[in-house]
Amino acid sequence: MATATALARTASFYRSTIGKKAIMAVTGVIGFGFVVGHLLGNLQFFLGPEALNDYAAALHANPGLLLVARLTLLAAVILHIAAALQLVSRNGSARPDGYRVWMARKSSYASRTMKFSGPLLGLFIVYHLLHLTFGSVHSNFRHGTNGLPDVYHNVVTGFSHIPVSLTYIAAMATLGLHLSHGVWSMFQSMGWNHPRYSPLVRRFATLVTVLIVLGNISIPLSVLLGFHEQL
Ligand code: HEM
Repeated sequence: MATATALARTASFYRSTIGKKAIMAVTGVIGFGFVVGHLLGNLQFFLGPEALNDYAAALHANPGLLLVARLTLLAAVILHIAAALQLVSRNGSARPDGYRVWMARKSSYASRTMKFSGPLLGLFIVYHLLHLTFGSVHSNFRHGTNGLPDVYHNVVTGFSHIPVSLTYIAAMATLGLHLSHGVWSMFQSMGWNHPRYSPLVRRFATLVTVLIVLGNISIPLSVLLGFHEQL
């Protein structure tokens, strides 16, 4: 009986708008944590081929843990997209005729473009997996002697193509737009929006976003400028 009540409560929370926002926030934090961890790992590119490939091998050393991490990330991405679509459709039906006069005063550029930055990022992730994880859209994808992708080689040869690097750089700008509003909204949804701290939260969201974008962009840019070890 108690379990049935708890289940009913969870289901009604899931259906509520605040429940959807909480899902967006929690799954956003998981995605954000991945992006930060992934960047820290990728920055080993600057330590050379051995460091980057050893890091990739260490990630693959525990297949059980890797599977759990991948499934968690996948579930978070699916729930994030589903809650976003439901919230967008709810907003639409709450105001079916739209505003008579459109005003952009209170919302930031990043918040207004979430509808575009989200799907664009989704497309980038699909392309990125085909490019550097599966190698199906990479013209020179190689595996090392341990059977795992030769990450350093694949990154350098992949980013040596200017259009590929430009695609990544544009995607990182989109990621920046999405994160700057996402981190801010996450604080709002969780109710951490005390007027005294709001400006601080905004600055924190901007600073973290800039660091993530610059960190990621530094890799294709270094390859384009020839700052990498010879293959
Ligand atoms: C210039 C920036 C980036 C570089 C150089 C990069 C590099 C890589 C590489 C080399 C892999 C394959 C690793 C392996 O096979 O061991 C990978 C996998 C992946 N990347 Fe990125 N990445 C970048 C940005 C991003 C961003 C911004 C996201 C997400 C928003 C992302 C999401 C992923 C995912 C989901 C995987 C698959 C992880 C797995 O194997 O489970 N990457 N990335």
